[in-house]
Amino acid sequence: MKLAVAGTGYVGLVAGVCFAERGHLVTCVDVDEEKVARMRAGESPIYEVGLEELLKKNIAENRLFFTTDYERAYSDAEAIFIGVGTPEQPDGSANLSYIAAVCRQIAQSVTRDCLVVVKSTVPVGTNDKVEQYIKDNLVRDVTIRVASNPEFLAQSNAVHDMLHAARIIIGTDDEEAERQLLEIYAPFDLPVVSVSRRSAEMIKYACNNFLALKISFMNDMANLCELVGANIDDVAEGMRYDPRIGAKFLKAGVGYGGSCFPKDTKALTYLARQNGVTLKTVDAAVEINAAQRTRLFEKAKKRLMTFEDMKVAVLGLAFKPGTDDLREAPSLENVRLLLEHGANLVCYDPVAGENFHKKYPDVPLAKSVEEALEGAFCCFIFTEWDEFVRLSPEMFRRKMRVPLVYDGRNIFDPDNMKRGGVEYYSIGR
Ligand code: UDX
Repeated sequence: MKLAVAGTGYVGLVAGVCFAERGHLVTCVDVDEEKVARMRAGESPIYEVGLEELLKKNIAENRLFFTTDYERAYSDAEAIFIGVGTPEQPDGSANLSYIAAVCRQIAQSVTRDCLVVVKSTVPVGTNDKVEQYIKDNLVRDVTIRVASNPEFLAQSNAVHDMLHAARIIIGTDDEEAERQLLEIYAPFDLPVVSVSRRSAEMIKYACNNFLALKISFMNDMANLCELVGANIDDVAEGMRYDPRIGAKFLKAGVGYGGSCFPKDTKALTYLARQNGVTLKTVDAAVEINAAQRTRLFEKAKKRLMTFEDMKVAVLGLAFKPGTDDLREAPSLENVRLLLEHGANLVCYDPVAGENFHKKYPDVPLAKSVEEALEGAFCCFIFTEWDEFVRLSPEMFRRKMRVPLVYDGRNIFDPDNMKRGGVEYYSIGR
């Protein structure tokens, strides 16, 4: 089918590339000329495993196009997927102005009956508004149907998550829209859950909020484990075999970050408040996560008394491994606090250094773990990159002035570190 995708961020670009990979003719639209030029040349603007390869392949096979000319892209598309951002506003609500702008463009451009599919994460009821808005602004006599189709891509695994999704959620309020979406997804050959538009919108929030809740629950438990002499990783190991609980998202640490959980928890609690109720579980998850981020910093502050003029190594800046994304990364708040307390920071991340440098141009970036650790009095780990997991206690002992390690991702065996002469603190163990 002939598809257009609005927005080439994580959601839009990955969707566009994967639709092309499954045989559709796809035109991706973005307002950023420079970005469009790079993508046309086969360059992926984001770091995502396998994405650039598929981008190049589908451009070469004439199924994937990029443009800033929305009018041409939307005018004869059979379906238009909206994948633009819905960033958090100061009050926690989702900013829908990018969605509105795309709707306006669609209404002005379409020349044939068309299915508009909202892929962005949007508050319940937004699809209804999108439909009304487009219909109110249409300049031609065409039929527009609107459907919800939330995505569940996790960064660093996005292409795989789209091509081999656990399920496709289709939210429609009429049979023709449902039929069309089923046709678009037929080549993916994946399980489909077909529900109403409002339920589809809610499924997305329910999933992300539940996962955030799971992580915060484990962090809450971890803090108790420390007090009662239990080990949270062992506890998680014992929990994960229970299929009612599930094996994933049981890892305690310095808390969740990224572009979704922090934003979506706030958006859902906002929606609840607007409807006169409080989501106590989600509020608690948010509160626990905020406190969790600085737990190790607080511990280190007590142990060291001061960070003034002390060399402190930070290993890992990205909000999780496999991405250069720093959005809501727990490292950032710790960096800010350490700088405020006068530490001489040296940071290292295998991928996110460049993005970090844009935020903190004055903080030195090491080119390797060894360089970051050299002469440090203390080391913090905020991301569980593979190259850190492989480090031995000897490395910390040899390189650091004082082998004192605060591990926010529980990547080392505490006994092994102790035997290796490292003073080691982690979460819940
Ligand atoms: C998440 C959802 O997984 C995805 O389905 C949705 O579409 C977007 O939001 P993402 O933000 O890319 O994806 O990353 P994810 O792997 O879910 O991790 C989010 C954060 O939670 C990271 O900071 C990670 O370190 C943290 N996390 C994850 C934990 O602290 N413990 C865990 O057990 C799992």
